[in-house]
Amino acid sequence: MSWKTKSNLAWLGALPGVKEDEPLASRTSFGIGGPAEFFLELARPEAIEKALDGCRQRGIPYLLLGAGTNLLVADKGVEGLVVRVVNREHEIDGTRVRAGAGLKMMRLARIVADANLRGFEFAIGVPGTVGGAVYQDAGCWGKEMREVLVEAEGFVPGKGRQRWTAPALELGYRTSALRDGDLKGALVVSATVHLQRGDGEEARQLMARLTRERSETQPIKTKNCGSVFKNPPGDSAGRLVQAGGLKGARKGNAAVSTLHGNFIVNEGGATAADVRRLIEHVMAEVKRRFGVQLEPEVEMVGRWR
Ligand code: EPU
Repeated sequence: MSWKTKSNLAWLGALPGVKEDEPLASRTSFGIGGPAEFFLELARPEAIEKALDGCRQRGIPYLLLGAGTNLLVADKGVEGLVVRVVNREHEIDGTRVRAGAGLKMMRLARIVADANLRGFEFAIGVPGTVGGAVYQDAGCWGKEMREVLVEAEGFVPGKGRQRWTAPALELGYRTSALRDGDLKGALVVSATVHLQRGDGEEARQLMARLTRERSETQPIKTKNCGSVFKNPPGDSAGRLVQAGGLKGARKGNAAVSTLHGNFIVNEGGATAADVRRLIEHVMAEVKRRFGVQLEPEVEMVGRWR
């Protein structure tokens, strides 16, 4: 039976602050995707948690959205409720920093450098939020969230608030228990990282240099979703795409970046279907030419059929 009963729709429509048929394209870095049937964005997690409990009880599907930087939303949009918590507070206690899940990683990188803390410079290359970075062990320049994470606080619908130690979150290269394991569907509320005391000016200089380098190797000014594929063990997806002559390949208005082979760029008006067809084309070609099965890193959500 569909979850779309009169009573469920009425309940969703009555959630304080909820919007119906809310466009999601502008809430993703790709700038692609149809609307959320119901959309709820709040600065405080409590009301979101209540809504998630309700969804669980009523069998209503929901999607947790962060900054939308690693997401491909289907053209037909997303069924059920899409929620976004934009809690951006932070608290520094010695070398420990607790940050709200809605804070951007790049912003936190600057905050901790200004507090003379080191070890978080890699976050200047991570476009998403703290919550999203925990969800998929985001990283850059060979350093990942799991190397600094101490614990996270979150919410499991039906079970309430929980505190997860770093090992319990099972972080690994672009994966975690939240994305692929037991904690699927749980909301990250905040995360605590452990850093080192150091010279903030040095941290800022390093971040400026890394950002310069990134702007030379990645199409950071375009509409994209970061790396499209995970790097296969011992190799790099970008190298394989380039070796396969696939840079510049296109479907509709989506094109493989000519700068970095592991990026797909929305050149304006690309559809999710364009991007998906291009992803499938690249995977098939890389498989045919090199026998390597690429695995998408970008998460595809919503109604594809
Ligand atoms: N390369 C090519 N052709 C290309 C692109 C890359 O030959 O078109 C080669 C490079 O010369 C280099 C190797 O491939 O020898 C690796 O490339 P790069 O240093 O650009 O890093 P990457 O492995 O493609 C990873 C992360 C990025 C992160 C960068 C920088 C993954 C899937 N990607 O990219 O993360 O920004 O390192 O540290 O692990 C993301 O996850 O969304 C993301 C952007």
